[in-house]
Amino acid sequence: MRRPIVLGNWKMHGDSSTNEKLLRRFGSLWAGVHNTEVVVCPPYPYLPQAVQELSHCNVWVGAQDVSGFEDGAYTGDVSAVMLADIGCHLVILGHSERRRYYNESDELVAKKLSLVLEQSLVPVMCVGETLEERESGKALATIDRQLKPNLAQLSQHQLARSIIAYEPRWAIGTGKTATPKQAQEVHAHIREQLGEAAQRTRIIYGGSVKPDNAQELFRQPDIDGALVGGASLDVEKFLAICRSAE
Ligand code: PGA
Repeated sequence: MRRPIVLGNWKMHGDSSTNEKLLRRFGSLWAGVHNTEVVVCPPYPYLPQAVQELSHCNVWVGAQDVSGFEDGAYTGDVSAVMLADIGCHLVILGHSERRRYYNESDELVAKKLSLVLEQSLVPVMCVGETLEERESGKALATIDRQLKPNLAQLSQHQLARSIIAYEPRWAIGTGKTATPKQAQEVHAHIREQLGEAAQRTRIIYGGSVKPDNAQELFRQPDIDGALVGGASLDVEKFLAICRSAE
């Protein structure tokens, strides 16, 4: 019922010539992926390049962040209107690296969400606990706190087309992955909060997803795909992950 989705978050990597090689190779090998929705999220300057290179295949392009302001004198910011204008399909919101390095609060993430919804872009709402929060038994409370201001503003229809990414902070870029059981437990907990849209909203896992752990994660009933960082820069690895989601 829920179509699997795999997102590649390139973070601040790449340049036009390496992207071109990666996108072309991806575009030529991608044909084997049929049932999984695939999205790549390059840095802002390369979004148009990705939109153009991937225009012949069924792969969407997403942004890694967006401004919390609508428009105006906000030096350095990129608005939701601009992202929609250049052909972006989706926006990652509240990634833990934004929360950690730029002190993004739950309230700011909620503001960004409202602007993304106005443009009919698909929001990917990231939530996840630190190791300390997990070890002190506060993982689920942290996730509930992060989700609350977002869920409060989504209609059931909007929620059904939104994506929630559970990314335990201790698993991002560390090589440590949550066990499938740990991830499933959190995904099931999140799903319980979603009301009527629960069976339609996709909840994906992120944090050191690789070809060798993807399949077991995707076997869990509440894991609908992945947000992939490091491994998304390697075409073979990324495609292997997409295929395991099929
Ligand atoms: P990682 O990153 O796969 O490199 O751990 C995931 C993410 O930050 O979205």
